[in-house]
Amino acid sequence: MSLIKEKSTELLNWVDYRLPVVKAFKTHMSEYYAPKNFNFWYFFGVLAIVAFVNQLASGIWLTMFYTPTADGAFDSIEYIMRDVDFGWLLRYMHSVGASFFFIVVYLHIFRGMMYGSYKGPRELVWVIGMVIYLMMMAEGFFGYVLPFGNMSYWGAKVILSLAGAVPVVGEDLQIWVQGDFVIGGATLSRFFAMHVAMVPLMLVVGVFLHLVALHQVGSNNPEGIDIKAQKDENGIPLDGIPFHPYYTVHDMVPVVIFFMIFAAAIFFFPGGGGYFIEPPNYTPANNLSTPEHIAPSWYFTPFYAMLRAVTIDFLGMSAKFWGLVVMGGAIVIVFFLPWLDKSPVKSLRYKGPISKFMLATFAISFLALGVLGAKPADWAPSWAAPVFTIIYFSYFIAMPFYTKIEKTKPVPDRIGAH
Ligand code: HEM
Repeated sequence: MSLIKEKSTELLNWVDYRLPVVKAFKTHMSEYYAPKNFNFWYFFGVLAIVAFVNQLASGIWLTMFYTPTADGAFDSIEYIMRDVDFGWLLRYMHSVGASFFFIVVYLHIFRGMMYGSYKGPRELVWVIGMVIYLMMMAEGFFGYVLPFGNMSYWGAKVILSLAGAVPVVGEDLQIWVQGDFVIGGATLSRFFAMHVAMVPLMLVVGVFLHLVALHQVGSNNPEGIDIKAQKDENGIPLDGIPFHPYYTVHDMVPVVIFFMIFAAAIFFFPGGGGYFIEPPNYTPANNLSTPEHIAPSWYFTPFYAMLRAVTIDFLGMSAKFWGLVVMGGAIVIVFFLPWLDKSPVKSLRYKGPISKFMLATFAISFLALGVLGAKPADWAPSWAAPVFTIIYFSYFIAMPFYTKIEKTKPVPDRIGAH
C-alpha cells in the first residue's frame, strides 16, 4: 500500500513539475475561498456545467448516427429513435437536455440580477456570461433545424427571413447564410458544422474564461458583502470556506436532484407537452405544408414576442426591421447591466423598494412575453406584447435613475453579523 502511495506521489510530483496540476487544483478548488452563505440560487452555476456536459456527451453520440443531408436528416433521426440501441435515450437526453440547459441558465442569470453579481469587479464575468448566452441561442437555433422536421424547416424560414429584413444587403445576406436559394442540404451541412464544432468550441472557451474571470475576483454572495475585505492573519477571508471539499460535497445534492428531475422528464414527459419537441417536428420538412402556428422553441419566445410586437412601418423601414432592432436591443441592453446599476449596494436585500418592484415587473414581463411568443399573434389583445416590451426595457433604461435616488439599507461588514 505504502509503495503504491509512494509511487503515485512520485508520479504526481513528476507531472506537477512539468504541468501545474496541483497548483491549479489549489487555486481553483481547495484554496479557493468561497463565501460561506451560498444558497439555493448558487446551485445553478454548477448545474449549468452539468447540463452543458450532458449536451456535449449526448451530442457526440448522436453525431455518430445523424446524416446532415436534406434527404437523410429526418430519416436518420427516426433511425436513432427506433433502431440504434438506446438511441431514443440519447436523443431525448439531448432534446430535453437543451430545455433543461436553458431553464438552469435563466435561473442562473436571474440570481445574478437579484444579488447584483454583475456589479464591479464582476463586470467581465457578466459580459462573458452574456456572450455565452448568445452562443447558446445560436447553438439552440442550429440544432433545432438539424432533424429537418416541418417545424425545423418553417422555424428556420422565419428566422432566416429576418436576415432579409436588413436594409440593402438583406436578400443577399439571407441567401449567403442559408447557402442556397432554398433551405436545404447546403443549409443543413453548414448548420451541422456550426452546431457540432464551431459553437461548442466557442462555448467551452467561453465557460473556461467565465470561471477564470470569476476566480480572479472571487464569488459574490446573497448578501453582496465583499468577503475579501475582512481577512485573517494568513490572508484568508474570514467569511470564506475552501470550495473543496465544502462546496464540492454540498453541490452533489443539487446535481443528484437535477438528474432525478431530468430522468423523470426523459422517461415520462420527453415531448414536454409540445415545448421540448414541437408536434410538427414529428413529420418531415415540407415546403408545401406550413404548420398552423409557427413558434420558436420556448426559450426564444420572449424575444419572438418582442419581434412581433412592432407592427408599424417607420422612417421608411419595415415593421419587421424595427422588430429586429427591438429584439436585438432586448439582448444587447442586458450586457450593459453592470454600468446601468448605480446603487451603492449589490444585493436586492439591501436595495430599496423601487429596485424590488422593477425586478419583479421585469421578471413578470419576461414570462408574459414568453407565453405571448409561444401563442398565435391574435391569442392576446394587440396591446399586450408592446406593453410588456416597454416594461422589459424600463427595467434597464430607468435603472440609472431609480438605483441612484432610492434609499438603501447599510450593508454589514461580516456575513451573518446582523
Ligand atoms: C454555459 C453556461 C454557463 C455556465 C456553465 C456557467 C457557470 C458558472 C459557474 C460554475 C459559476 C460559479 C458558481 C455560481 O456562482 O453559481 C458562475 C458564476 C456566475 N455566472 Fe455563470 N455560467 C453560465 C452562463 C452564464 C450567463 C449566461 C450569465 C449571465 C449573463 C452568467 C453570469 C454569472 C455571474 C454574474 C456569476 C457570478 C455569480 C456570483 O458570484 O454571485 N453565467 N457561472
